[in-house]
Amino acid sequence: MALQNGEMPQELLDSQAHIWNHMLSFIKSMSLKCAIQLQIPDIIDRHGSPMLLSELIEALAIKPERTHSLSRLMRILVHSGFFLKQSVSTPVGSDEERGEGYLLAPASRLLLKEDPLSIRPLLLVALDPILMDPWQHMTKWFQNDDVTPFYTTHGRTFWDMASQEPKLNQLFNEAMANDARLVISAILKHCGHIFEGLDSIVDVGGGTGTVTKAIVKAFPNIRCTSFDLPHLVNGLVGSKNLSYVGGNMFEAIPNANAILLKWILHDWSDEECMKILKQCREAIPTKENRGKLIIIDMVVKVHKRENELLETQLLFDMLMMSLVTGRERSEKDWAKLFLDAGFSDYKITPILGLRSLIEVYP
Ligand SMILES: C[S@@+](CC[C@H](N)C(=O)[O-])C[C@H]1O[C@@H](n2cnc3c(N)ncnc32)[C@H](O)[C@@H]1O
Repeated sequence: MALQNGEMPQELLDSQAHIWNHMLSFIKSMSLKCAIQLQIPDIIDRHGSPMLLSELIEALAIKPERTHSLSRLMRILVHSGFFLKQSVSTPVGSDEERGEGYLLAPASRLLLKEDPLSIRPLLLVALDPILMDPWQHMTKWFQNDDVTPFYTTHGRTFWDMASQEPKLNQLFNEAMANDARLVISAILKHCGHIFEGLDSIVDVGGGTGTVTKAIVKAFPNIRCTSFDLPHLVNGLVGSKNLSYVGGNMFEAIPNANAILLKWILHDWSDEECMKILKQCREAIPTKENRGKLIIIDMVVKVHKRENELLETQLLFDMLMMSLVTGRERSEKDWAKLFLDAGFSDYKITPILGLRSLIEVYP
């Protein structure tokens, strides 16, 4: 790799480009956040046809001096696949030199404010300084005994802070509810049979009850309980077959035919998962009596080089490391966890994109 005769080896230049790309990758996230805060996807969607830069500037009510900067923001987001450009017939000699307008790319539909499946709240919470600051403290955390970089930064756990800061709590719950809507609709559509024959389900860490509401609607005879920390469920009103129960899953979980754990176990270490799984086991009947766990979480495919999918799973794993004590697990990790917690069998159905449906039997 050393320079000889003043010649610059291609490998060196490629390495430089690789490092630069990695170093600046946060700009992708922050550019998208900026576009969302400016509500650019919503404005383009409302416009209903390819939107010229000048129209976008006007709709955003920002100064014309920002026109060139906005076109640069849009250029990186077009490059990243969030917007498309399409020719528009404009009067000759107008400002729009190439007469091109912006349209939403399919991914941006999930960024619209009013879309019930919107990923907007998750993006805003993930890129909020409260969740971003721990990255500045990760090195320090590697050298200390704190439970997480989040704790090193804020002096309290993520869950304590969520219960104490209404803004964080609200944004996080909204993010979870939107995600839950997407996941449960996919499960009911493709795997609804997993609920057939059940009398009761407890959704552990069920948040504000999005999943249980959808199950009760699809299966009116199943008694559903959304179980979460008291600060989250206090004041929520249930219905005929839906109740809210506040409590701590490490101490006791209400009895049911099946326990649902959506995006719960990846928040916790193996030791903590073991405690949760043991409480779950006590709460359900035997396999013969249709007892089971329904887990929705990632199964990291370390063996597959499916570039973007695998990278996103690994990024989620790092996110868990910065915020909480959990991690994303491979099938081998899951199998060990289930076996150690006294379960006999499991079945993985990879129908949820980056996440899977995992049924676990006593
Ligand atoms: C990542 S969120 C998942 C929410 C929901 N299951 C979903 O996926 O939409 C984790 C949930 O676990 C809840 N939680 C955290 N600690 C808990 C505990 N000790 N007992 C019960 N719920 C807890 C949180 O309040 C939060 O609602």
